Amino acid sequence: MPDHILLAVAWPYANGPRHVGHVAGFGVPSDIFARYQRLKGNHVLMVSGTDEHGTPITLAADKEGVTPKQLADRYNRVIGDDLRNLGLSYDTFTRTTTLNHYRVTQDLFKTLYDKGYILKQTALGAFSAATGRTLPDRYIEGTCPICGYGEARGDQCDNCGNQLDPVDLINPRSKVDGQPPVFRETEHFFLDLPAFAERLSQWIDSQAHWRPNVRGFSLNLLEDLRPRAITRDLDWGVPIPLPEYADRDDKRIYVWFDAVIGYLSASVEWAKNRGTPDAWREWWQSPAARHYYFMGKDNIVFHSVIWPSMLMGYGNGGAIGGNAGSPALNLPYDVVSSEFLTMEGKKFSSSRGIVIYVNDVLSRYDPDPLRYFLTIGGPETQDTDFTWAEFVRRNNDELVATWGNLVNRTLTNVHRNFGAVPQPGELTAVDHAVLAEVEAGLSSVGALLDAARFKAALGEAMKLASQVNQYLSEQEPWKVIKRDRERAATILYVALRCVDNLKIIMTPFLPFTSQKLHELLGYQGFIAGPLEFREYAEEDGSSHRVLTGDYASWVGRWQPSELPVGQALQPPAPLFKKLDESVVADELARLEHAGK
Ligand code: MF3
Ligand code: ZN
Repeated sequence: MPDHILLAVAWPYANGPRHVGHVAGFGVPSDIFARYQRLKGNHVLMVSGTDEHGTPITLAADKEGVTPKQLADRYNRVIGDDLRNLGLSYDTFTRTTTLNHYRVTQDLFKTLYDKGYILKQTALGAFSAATGRTLPDRYIEGTCPICGYGEARGDQCDNCGNQLDPVDLINPRSKVDGQPPVFRETEHFFLDLPAFAERLSQWIDSQAHWRPNVRGFSLNLLEDLRPRAITRDLDWGVPIPLPEYADRDDKRIYVWFDAVIGYLSASVEWAKNRGTPDAWREWWQSPAARHYYFMGKDNIVFHSVIWPSMLMGYGNGGAIGGNAGSPALNLPYDVVSSEFLTMEGKKFSSSRGIVIYVNDVLSRYDPDPLRYFLTIGGPETQDTDFTWAEFVRRNNDELVATWGNLVNRTLTNVHRNFGAVPQPGELTAVDHAVLAEVEAGLSSVGALLDAARFKAALGEAMKLASQVNQYLSEQEPWKVIKRDRERAATILYVALRCVDNLKIIMTPFLPFTSQKLHELLGYQGFIAGPLEFREYAEEDGSSHRVLTGDYASWVGRWQPSELPVGQALQPPAPLFKKLDESVVADELARLEHAGK
């Protein structure tokens, strides 16, 4: 029986193009997982979109001199293009400014409020002295009251690591204009997290399959659970769905509260767009479905504590989930969080020019080498550094030299001598051994992928490619063919079958070149086809663009190759390009230039 698997991928802020640090954290890993699960025949629903509310958007809009909506419109497209060009195969990549998202968000707020999980309290809020508008915690700087570090932020001190409140800072000042903020009493709604403490602790405690850092970090957060403000003094965001706020434009739902709801609203949207409005329930209300969340480590608390609390509180209530007797919405099954990617030894920072944008990289290099690097050398379990020297080395010495070379010499030899998949003679023990080894890779690589261990999975796949290379080097079909055509045919047949198996194994990691290889091997159809943008209209007359794809029509299964004898091959062409060493110096010069 196929499983229902929801892939809930962190929503990028629509405030600028994506840099490789972003897509290393949430993007490439989630796509590998989605493609693998689809190849296994499971029912995958992969959702996300641009996160378009809150101060990250209003501040960037102010800077560019446009409205928040204009800014979000612009970067929704830019980011959609980035993700499409990297081959991230969302079922629905939408946005948080849709009517549907507002409806679902307000339903959750209202339901939690009616059930008593949302409290009204006053708090001291920081406002800009110049504009009177809210100053987000992250935009207030001052001296840390705990360690005395001079550049602590309103939300935390990067020197001692303590969580802070802006009012605690000594000599607080706005990062925007350097002026001290004004603190005022302001009324807000709070999510009553302590009400869920008991259930959270039992639930997280029993998630033995979570990465230890995520589980440990989350359990630790439970030690000090306090009600958390879920509204802000802003005019940009989802309105508060209570009658007394109907006409007010000074308070909105907090961006994080609405963004996590996006996982549910995007699933609802997906079902509606494909004309089966209740289909999302198979993922959200069937206890057997599994939900995997992918994000960078700074997002953990929202996915392991806050969103689960909202789901627990909502249960089966509300207008969206509610159906007399319907099951409660599913909690996360796994929270897969990556660490940070640094850049040539420094923290990524768009404002300081320490950044490589996805669209920049893809204008000069193919997507698969980037996906390869971000998987094999990415920040899966520890902070790691992106360097151009490593990018070039891994491309040339690993991707080109191992996998590219195996494909190339196998296809070239077959094409030149046979033109089609040759009829093998009797297989020897060595032939059987190499084939068996590669076929077993479907299980070993698959098990690693099921456990979200992408780096190890790709490492294992590359090891298999090396073994087939070694088989070819030892068997030397290019020499054998001069004296024994049938034996050469057998060797090349075995090598082709290995390549075909490895094609399946590589598809989640390297979809673009796997599709190309699929065609070179003479197959029809898509094993990794194109992604598509589709425009969807809503009742209010607005429409928005969704990134999606026709995945159900793709071919290919996570099972041993059955390459038919006689299938005609296409003229071979290399899958990867060797990069010149001068790339490193060129890219470093570009970075230097951008930093000025
Ligand atoms: N926009 C957030 C960030 O870039 C991530 C939001 S993920 C979601 O850090 F949970 F809110 F969806
Ligand atoms: Zn400190």
